[in-house]
Amino acid sequence: MGKVKIFDTTLRDGEQSPGINLNHKEKLDIAFQLERLGVDIIEAGFPASSQGDFQSVKDIATQIKNSSITGLARSKKEDIDACWEALKQSAEPRIHVFLATSPIHMQYKLKLTPEQVVERAVESVKYAAKKFPYVQFSAEDASRSDWTFLARIIEATIDAGASVINLPDTVGYGMPKEISELFEYMTKNVPNIDRAILSTHNHDDLGMGVANSLAAVQGGARQVECTINGIGERAGNASLEEIAVGLHIRSDFYKTGTNIQLNELKRTSALVSRYTSMPIPKNKAVVGSNAFAHESGIHQDGMLKHKETYEIITPELVGATSSNPLGKHSGRHAFQEKMKELGFKGTADELNQLFQSFKTLADKKKTVTEDDLYALMIDQGEDE
Ligand code: KIV
Ligand code: ZN
Repeated sequence: MGKVKIFDTTLRDGEQSPGINLNHKEKLDIAFQLERLGVDIIEAGFPASSQGDFQSVKDIATQIKNSSITGLARSKKEDIDACWEALKQSAEPRIHVFLATSPIHMQYKLKLTPEQVVERAVESVKYAAKKFPYVQFSAEDASRSDWTFLARIIEATIDAGASVINLPDTVGYGMPKEISELFEYMTKNVPNIDRAILSTHNHDDLGMGVANSLAAVQGGARQVECTINGIGERAGNASLEEIAVGLHIRSDFYKTGTNIQLNELKRTSALVSRYTSMPIPKNKAVVGSNAFAHESGIHQDGMLKHKETYEIITPELVGATSSNPLGKHSGRHAFQEKMKELGFKGTADELNQLFQSFKTLADKKKTVTEDDLYALMIDQGEDE
């Protein structure tokens, strides 16, 4: 099986997070970092939505050379035209057209019958395909759509020129088993599916964004849409770093991987966090500051004996550094190693005394820093 393509939508769906408003320079900086990270496709924005978005998509499309750039468009000629104006100078012009396919969206939002939805989707994809060599069609709210109807619209849009079909879990409603079955069903029941790549796009309303993305890969998806730090509408999108590392660490299970340069993940995450003013929770998988910290004595002791006892991802893999904080749960073994690292050369008895002073201090303080340990050594006359 080939690699899964990573489609990053930090600059489009991610920017739709409440409270985020990236300026032009910040968007360009993020796009350059995404290129360095090895993202296959960057969704740079929604050109018809504002003059600012149009300009940043255009500038990103002309300056980024190693990732393919795309822009979002509703199924409307004016949106497709705006996208073409913004993207025509890119190395590989690509458009992302969408239209909702669930009963609730068709009836209340679009006020269209299913027949009219198929007609409009086909018309938009045909129009887009006259300009763009790569057209992606998204069936918005696919996870709440009727599967027979979905199969029909997928077949029709592939015939109209779509080379990527995205099946979003727009409101984060799907469960992993359902999502993998949805992809399996389309792979088996859409007669011309071999002419397109199936893509997955998951929101995190029930905390399933990453699980659903990986389940879709099991079901046949070959493109995954996600954002750095999982930012996005409401509870956010599936997080890129977790998907890329998940596929890497469990390549034995998924039998595939990505083009992501994993050692750029920490840096990319920090940049997006800073520009969006959205702090990364300490316990966030892969990029949180506690992700590689082992505090309990049992864990620290195990780590000193063999790292794989408690570490499935090394900090180096994702461009992070490890930090083992010493605190009240730390044991003698970790303490002794830390003291050696700090240059302690005393006797076993002196080390024992220092360990008792350390435990007393750790009871009062959550984390004992290196400076605290130097102070303890000085108090005990161990610095001479
Ligand atoms: O969540 C969603 O359905 C979207 C589409 C525009 C792909 O973001
Ligand atoms: Zn979305």
